[in-house]
Amino acid sequence: MKLHPMWQEYPALQADLSASLQLMEKSLKLKNKAVEDAILAMIHSGGKLLRPAYQLLFSSFGSDKDHEKAVALAASIEMLHTASLIHDDIVDHADTRRRLPTIRATFGNDVAVYAGDYLFVCCFKLMADYASSMKSLQMNSRSMEKILSGELGQMSKRYDVDVTVADYLENISGKTAELFALSCFIGAYESGASLRFANQAKEIGQSIGLAFQIMDDILDYSQAADHLGKPVLEDVRQGVYSLPLLMTLKTDRARLLPLLAKKEMMTDADTQAVYQLVQNGQGLIEAQTLAAKYTDNALQAIKKLPETQDQSKAYLYRITEQILGRTN
Ligand code: IPE
Ligand code: IPE
Ligand code: MG
Ligand code: MG
Repeated sequence: MKLHPMWQEYPALQADLSASLQLMEKSLKLKNKAVEDAILAMIHSGGKLLRPAYQLLFSSFGSDKDHEKAVALAASIEMLHTASLIHDDIVDHADTRRRLPTIRATFGNDVAVYAGDYLFVCCFKLMADYASSMKSLQMNSRSMEKILSGELGQMSKRYDVDVTVADYLENISGKTAELFALSCFIGAYESGASLRFANQAKEIGQSIGLAFQIMDDILDYSQAADHLGKPVLEDVRQGVYSLPLLMTLKTDRARLLPLLAKKEMMTDADTQAVYQLVQNGQGLIEAQTLAAKYTDNALQAIKKLPETQDQSKAYLYRITEQILGRTN
């Protein structure tokens, strides 16, 4: 199965990531062809597989070397991620993801809702089949609750020009960082590492996730849609004010407020004007600084991890450095 090109530099991970993808495909057992086809198309659309990669890497720190289990649990986490993207594209009215039309755009919202639902079910089925500890299932449900709560927090602040950086951080900590944290926790804990170590892994995942979402929000203001393979600047029109804009609002409020006041009636020229104000101000640089802080927290904590017999620790460091310096 074809993997995202970033994994060419990490040969020791490729086989496990491919096996996780294959297992995702094999776990689908649906009579409804439209929903199954939609999920298959999404699975093959070239996602980066970052969460299963972190999970697999953290599974090297315990003494349990059950390879099949590690791969299955990694597949289960990617299913959760995929489900959340399919539903996110419905809520965000997105027409493209990974350079391809979204499930909602190709098959309609009904198919997309069911495809996402089914993947949530598959995630739990796989995890219940392979996890050794009830704690992992508990953590999984709690993380899903936190992801939802982050999304709901974001929704409740839509078009609110007084939304704070603290609100933003709370929301992304749920909607994005939680899944990175869960992946690192489950990888470590289910490989037999101590709860103390698994919680350390979770903290690292949390910092990576925060930096990752801030970087994603920076890219929204600095890259073209065709480069990213998903829509840009849609957030603003939909009233989701992310960090670069929040930082710019502090200094350029008078010029931004009349544009933002148009809410969903903003024209392309209005969003372009917002884009220009963010570009010309300090917002992007300030957002970069905060992302760099979280990245640095994660890298320093990875450095302090015990050495592994394989390349996992070195990979963790390099991948984290690479994805948080990303341009796409
Ligand atoms: C997209 O995550 C959603 C965000 C948290 C920004 P990824 O960029 O990891 O998505 P894929 O799976 O590689 O497409
Ligand atoms: C990230 O949300 C997706 C989830 C955490 C479910 P966004 O809406 O900010 O991300 P993109 O830009 O669509 O990937
Ligand atoms: Mg979205
Ligand atoms: Mg969204």
